[in-house]
Amino acid sequence: MQQVTHIDTPWSRRLQRGERPGRAELREHLLEVHRQHPGFTEACAARCRDASGRNSYEWLAEVVDPVQHRTLLDLACGSGALTALCHERFGGHVALIGVDMSVDELALARRRVPDPVVVLHRAMAQEMGFIADDSIDVVICHWALTLMDPIEPVLAELRRVLRPKGILAAIVDGELSTAPGYDELHHLIYGWVQREYPGYGEIDLGDRRVRTTAALTELVANSFPGANIGIEAAVVNQVGPPDALAREAAGFFYAAFLLSPPSRTRMLSEIGALFARHGHGGLGRFSMPINRLVVRLPQA
Ligand SMILES: C[S@@+](CC[C@H](N)C(=O)[O-])C[C@H]1O[C@@H](n2cnc3c(N)ncnc32)[C@H](O)[C@@H]1O
Repeated sequence: MQQVTHIDTPWSRRLQRGERPGRAELREHLLEVHRQHPGFTEACAARCRDASGRNSYEWLAEVVDPVQHRTLLDLACGSGALTALCHERFGGHVALIGVDMSVDELALARRRVPDPVVVLHRAMAQEMGFIADDSIDVVICHWALTLMDPIEPVLAELRRVLRPKGILAAIVDGELSTAPGYDELHHLIYGWVQREYPGYGEIDLGDRRVRTTAALTELVANSFPGANIGIEAAVVNQVGPPDALAREAAGFFYAAFLLSPPSRTRMLSEIGALFARHGHGGLGRFSMPINRLVVRLPQA
């Protein structure tokens, strides 16, 4: 397990002073978290599985139809877990592009998918001029839309690059109360962080509309007129020794990276106890609610 350091950036310092950070500070903060902890999302997400044994990368990849689809964009591909999965499954039939703003994450992605046929771009999702209009069949985006602020230019870019009948599919936050213990976990982590950063939660990463089904549906409907929009819910789980599971789950929350080492230690022991209560036989259980957004564009 990687050593976790306390992240201190202009974004977090503003928050600590009770101020509202700007978008440039958000970007620098995200880059710093990913510089210090590349691959942290997949370290947890790849091991969390639904009742049928799928993780969220596999669930998302199911929207791709290798018979019909020719071009695929993994937006905010991070360390390349989904890019690699798609390359393995569809590589012979589908051209694959990955985009991410973090050079540290892209380095992991490139190591994992060395095949130069897979093109990786370091860029902001808000500005993807290097991708031609109407050229992509499917955009997949795993756990990243939530971080993007402003979000409207991202959706406008996706509208521009997607072909008629194209698909945008994304894994985003699910409803807190739908996974056993998740509401409590969320409040536990945010409670610890708010002791050091009182504004955290009120101010969070990204555009908060992406986090709720109703607001996300409205946002997407405005950006993709005439599209068919579906949001499906699932719960993914992981079982393991409570302490190890606590470290892994805490590592999934950007908020937890802000904590000072003593607070982090105490938070981890509370999370371990929470997971132990939801597990059995000495093992803990971490359950996480997720949503899969699928937007199907009209013919033209
Ligand atoms: C939570 S990680 C998810 C990474 C990967 N999709 C996965 O699930 O393993 C979020 C990723 O989004 C990227 N990201 C956030 N905002 C972005 C933006 N506006 N443009 C491009 N990449 C962005 C970050 O650099 C990071 O790699």
